[in-house]
Amino acid sequence: MKILSIESSCDETAAAVTEERRVLSNIVATQIAEHRIYGGVVPEIASRRHTEAISAVCAEALSRAGTSYGDIDAVAVTFAPGLIGALLVGVNFAKGLSLALGKPLIPVHHLRSHIAANYISNPELKPPFLCLLVSGGNTVLAEVSDYTKFKIIGGTRDDAAGECFDKTARALGLDYPGGVTLDRTATCADSIKYPLPYPQVSSGEFDFSFSGLKTAVMNLVNNLSQKGEKPDVPVLCATVRQRVCDMLIDKTIGAALKYGYKTVAVAGGVSANSELRVRMSAECSKRGFALFYPELRYCGDNAAMVGVQAYYEFKDGNTGGSSLNAAATLPIDYR
Ligand code: KG4
Repeated sequence: MKILSIESSCDETAAAVTEERRVLSNIVATQIAEHRIYGGVVPEIASRRHTEAISAVCAEALSRAGTSYGDIDAVAVTFAPGLIGALLVGVNFAKGLSLALGKPLIPVHHLRSHIAANYISNPELKPPFLCLLVSGGNTVLAEVSDYTKFKIIGGTRDDAAGECFDKTARALGLDYPGGVTLDRTATCADSIKYPLPYPQVSSGEFDFSFSGLKTAVMNLVNNLSQKGEKPDVPVLCATVRQRVCDMLIDKTIGAALKYGYKTVAVAGGVSANSELRVRMSAECSKRGFALFYPELRYCGDNAAMVGVQAYYEFKDGNTGGSSLNAAATLPIDYR
């Protein structure tokens, strides 16, 4: 079954052609350069750029896969969660295509597709497993009991892990997108010396909180600046990265032990973080857990992962019609 999939939930306009877990083409038109001057994604600009790019990106995906609209068996699209205006561009384009081609429309949840990025790179991975989903807008620990069945066992109470990295990077004047630059800068540090807190969550054993860490960084930078001093940027980046990784790893391992999972996956843009990958691998191998990551090229937003998840959604009967709407927020375990 050949699926043309579309992703436009944030600042990448992406299209792919997939067959089950196989990627025939994967095109991503990024808007990073455009949002860089603002230090973050401007939703209105993102929607406009998606509108301009989507037709050409889909045509390129078909051409690279050596196929055409006539050969496609279904059209898949990210419909939630994300920036509403950006999502609507993809959803409406996909609805038009599905109607014109007379092919099924498959709505895909963005976080489910991030998990599916793992299926592309790891053919042996299948549910059940525990997944840590860490991206710019979400931090969720979920049980993946089947390809389309999820149970949330923890999540962030405030900021997402990626947001904490991005805002810290911005406060330190690092280049956008911040998480990647912070990771690279932290790797040059020779110590971890700043007394940053480990934010605690009083209820919810597997919940996370990152906003206190972000605020502590801002306060530290402001206090130093009032004294005419500057932070040691690599050391501060390394300290923040270590704190975030500690929280993510502790909760994930704790949840795997409590719920009896021996297979763990990490997904989302932050799964590209170099310290998280190395330390999570070490912690999992210590306990005999199998650990899975997407390849780096599938960690960020892309449409190949949407197509792979769409295949499983279709098998489960989850198709949409002309009344499909986008949603800015929707939990991964929606019904
Ligand atoms: O999954 P994603 O591409 O978009 C969302 O769906 O949110 O995730 C983007 C997030 C951003 O916060 C970005 O800074 C972060 O992933 N990110 C990283 C790294 N690469 C991307 N954070 C830490 N280390 C990285 N290497």
